Amino acid sequence: MKYLVTGGCGFVGSNLSAEVLRRGEQLYVFDNLSRAGSTQNLAWLRGQGEFEFFHGDVRSRHDIDRAVELVKPDVVFHLAGQVAMTTSVEQPFKDFEINAMGTVSVLEAVRKHCPEAAILYSSTNKVYGDLEDLRYNELETRYECVDYPKGLPETLPLDFSTPYGCSKGAADQYVRDYHRMYGLKTVVFRHSSMYGGGQYPTFDQGWVGWFTMQALRTKEDPNHRFTVAGNGKQVRDLLHAEDVVRLYFSAAERIDTVAGGVYNVGGGVQNAFSIQELLDQLSAELHVDLVPEHLEARRRDQKVFVASNDMIEGAVSWVPRVKPEVGVKTLMGWLSTYRSV
Ligand SMILES: NC(=O)c1ccc[n+]([C@@H]2O[C@H](COP(=O)([O-])OP(=O)(O)OC[C@H]3O[C@@H](n4cnc5c(N)ncnc54)[C@H](O)[C@@H]3O)[C@@H](O)[C@H]2O)c1
Repeated sequence: MKYLVTGGCGFVGSNLSAEVLRRGEQLYVFDNLSRAGSTQNLAWLRGQGEFEFFHGDVRSRHDIDRAVELVKPDVVFHLAGQVAMTTSVEQPFKDFEINAMGTVSVLEAVRKHCPEAAILYSSTNKVYGDLEDLRYNELETRYECVDYPKGLPETLPLDFSTPYGCSKGAADQYVRDYHRMYGLKTVVFRHSSMYGGGQYPTFDQGWVGWFTMQALRTKEDPNHRFTVAGNGKQVRDLLHAEDVVRLYFSAAERIDTVAGGVYNVGGGVQNAFSIQELLDQLSAELHVDLVPEHLEARRRDQKVFVASNDMIEGAVSWVPRVKPEVGVKTLMGWLSTYRSV
């Protein structure tokens, strides 16, 4: 089997790429190496096995068309993306060109050169907007969504908001529609928060990694200061990279069942944490006091996003296995060394 992973040097992409190599399948990685840490991930991947690397940009139709034409993959994991909401607000054209146009270029290249390929796309919970019309309780350490205590389903109305939400949402709908219009075997995963090794967190992307890093820094220097946007009661369900990898391969193996599907995917109710609760856990683990400065809440930030995994669990017999209590411990180990090459 030939796997093409766009964004294969990013967090999710490098974990999926490593799994392709582990399975002894043929790997082709496409990435423009723009993300901090992507060159380290590429070097690390090179140590995992043989593969071909395309240093290309999804904004270039030529780059992506050439790669797809040369490889004619059986499976495309499309992860290349502009991933920060804050960047999208500052540079909406760039965000649109990478996320929306880049995705159409991937779809068109597959339609032209290998229409039988499976295409799995990583969308986002942001396609549902800020969800302010739902009812919430404010508890001591977290918000709770009164209307959906078992997680949010795919039947929520779409409400693209922020340039990132719009560009990812447009891509999400193109991926879905290329199944209906052209019969491509596409799947959309609407992700909540993913974490694990290979993620080089920044203050505006990868919050579990970011706050874990702040806790490690505070351990080294008790005067270290960091900020939290809002009151820290925002809740997300955490999905570990190992579970993400199992999901993508399970879906690719059952592509005829899931093609055309759109699935909310996350750690689910059992693996939901607020920022405050993560800080409390890190504090207990590392024996440090973590007292962040609170900033204004981010515009259009969701109070709670916890996915209902019912649809995806039914479709591919997949359930998240890694508990955040365990996953965050291994993440600490990874962040302490970063990916050494
Ligand atoms: N990590 C999360 O929690 C999360 C949540 C929801 C959705 N997603 C989506 O999952 C995908 C992967 O996320 P991630 O966390 O691995 O991000 P990441 O930033 O670690 O990886 C993205 C990769 O894409 C590459 N890239 C960026 N622009 C490119 C371009 N123009 N051409 C080619 N390559 C380009 C980067 O260099 C990087 O290696 C993204 O599309 C993101 O929107 C992630």
